[in-house]
Order: sequence, then structure tokens, then C-alpha cells
Amino acid sequence: MQIKEMLLEQLLRAEGKYCSGGELAEQFGVSRTAVWKAIEQLKAEGCAIEAVTNKGYRLTNADDLFDETLFRKYVKDCRMDWNVVHLKETDSTNNYAKKLAAEGAPEGTVVLADRQTAGKGRLGKSFHSPSGGLYMSVILRPRIPLADMMAVTACTAVAVHEALREIGFHTQIKWVNDLFLNGRKICGILTEGSFNAELLAMDHLVIGIGINLRCDPDLPDELRSIVTDLEMESGSRLSRTALFSLILTEMELFLDEIQDRTYLPIYREHSCTLGHRVLVITEQEERIGLAVDFAEDAGLIVEFEDGSREIIRSGTAKIVD
Ligand code: BTN
Repeated sequence: MQIKEMLLEQLLRAEGKYCSGGELAEQFGVSRTAVWKAIEQLKAEGCAIEAVTNKGYRLTNADDLFDETLFRKYVKDCRMDWNVVHLKETDSTNNYAKKLAAEGAPEGTVVLADRQTAGKGRLGKSFHSPSGGLYMSVILRPRIPLADMMAVTACTAVAVHEALREIGFHTQIKWVNDLFLNGRKICGILTEGSFNAELLAMDHLVIGIGINLRCDPDLPDELRSIVTDLEMESGSRLSRTALFSLILTEMELFLDEIQDRTYLPIYREHSCTLGHRVLVITEQEERIGLAVDFAEDAGLIVEFEDGSREIIRSGTAKIVD
């Protein structure tokens, strides 16, 4: 381990209290100048470190940083051997993860970024991704029938819903992949995949999750009335590492049980789509109908005005009333 890594670990463990520069130098067997240099490196990498004469150094943005030690503690009971690739910045964690998956990265590889410069949403839209959000993409190599691929996104929505519920947020799920808190969007999920035509099966899936964690002072005007963030809703700061770990733990649980459909009752109960009239937009047509239920694979069952029912598995369903 480099000095800066040992130093960061020490500052994180001190939970915002001061650590004396002299004591750190002695503990690591290096000079005080070496400690100071490592502090400057950490600052350049995004750590907010306060230095006060006769007191030492303290970390003031621990909640924002990815803490590998804490992460390992949180996911210690997981079956999956989660391997986190943590980036300061990338265009899109989904793009990065797709590249890794194509190069053979195993299931359980997760790309986590502090910000994205070209975050992607569904249907070619962009996903605003400044610092202060949680942006992650999980590589899966699921051995489930092709027909169940849609359920993976629904499972993920339920996993994020459950992770947020554990820390006190009660979200609603808008078919198929958006989570809302008090009527505003808090999370989006984008699933991409690569099909193996020889095996007639998916080679891998990349499940991208974006959550608005902190208030964004530069939020574009057009998003102000549509999105919200966890900090504003709760009035408190949450640890990114804790939420990230909770989401992975819940994903593992629900994905392991995907064929038992354990996600489905929660998906139904917390849906903000069911019971509403929706405008179904697919590549072929636009029609209004009533969202009546979900199929086993999370397809949306819509009853149209002529009494016919269809299971919608692609496109969008905009709530009309
Ligand atoms: C949507 O709201 O339409 C889906 C948004 C998905 C955003 C996440 S953020 C992490 C991952 N990387 C991306 O580029 N997109 C997903």
C-alpha cells in the first residue's frame, strides 16, 4: 500500500477527527514532508482535507469517497465476489463496463464513478451526472432464459427501492426502470447487453444505476421540477459507500431469486404506473390504455379501450392520468 492509501484509510477511520502529522509520519515510518506530499496528492484526487497547526489533518468529505475497507465490511456476506473499478470521471460507467465485459471481465465487476461526462439514459436520452451522484454499472453474465432479461431491470429497480427503504426512503417505481421520491425522479436504470448469436444466449448484461444523492447547485432549469435528491429529501448527508454496498447486496438477493419472482409483489405494491391510464409509445404505435398489472417477466399489461389486453415489453408508458 502507498503512503497516500494508508493515510486515507487512517483519516477515514478517524471519522472527521484530527490526526497529527507527526504521529502519522511515525506510524508509517516516513518523514512529515512525505505525509504532507501524500496529503496534497489526496487533495488533488478530490479528498477535502483540512490542516490546522498543532492539531493535524482531518477529512471533511468522507461521505463522498469510496471507502474500500468499509465496502468489504458491508458486503462480507455476499455470495458474489464484487470487484469494484472506481473512477474519478468517465463518459459513462455503462460504456466503461461494456468495454470491460467485452474483454472478459467476470460477473460481479462493478464500475463506480464520481461523475460522468456523457451519462446515458434510456431511449438515447442523456443522464445529468455531476459530482455528488451515485453512478454505477454492474456486469452480469446471467444464465436465465432470454425471456427473463426484462425482469433483470425490474429486479434491479426493486433492489434499489429496498436499499433506499432500509435507510428510510419510500420510493415508487415507474415502469419499467425509474424510481420516484415524493413525485420526483431520484433514480434511473439503464440495462444494456450483448447477445451471443452462436449460443443464442446473452453473453453479458450491464446494468447502470444513477442516483441523485446530493443537491446539485448547477441543476439545469428544465430538470428542477422533475428530479430530486436524497440530501434535499432527508436533510442529511448519506454515505455513498454505504448506499452502494446496500444496492449490490439487494441486487444479489433479488437476482438470485429471479425465477421465483420474489421481486414481483414489491414491484406491484410500489408501482406508480398500475391503475393509471398510460400513453404507450412503441416503435410501431402510440395508444392510450389502462395499466392493469405486470406479467411474470415484468412486462406491463395494458387494457385498451376496445377491451383488448396486451403485454408491453418495449418502449415507454407515459402516465396520462
Ligand atoms: C434513465 O433514467 O433513462 C436511465 C438512467 C441511467 C443512468 C445510469 S448512471 C450509471 C449508468 N451509466 C450511464 O451512462 N447510465 C447509467
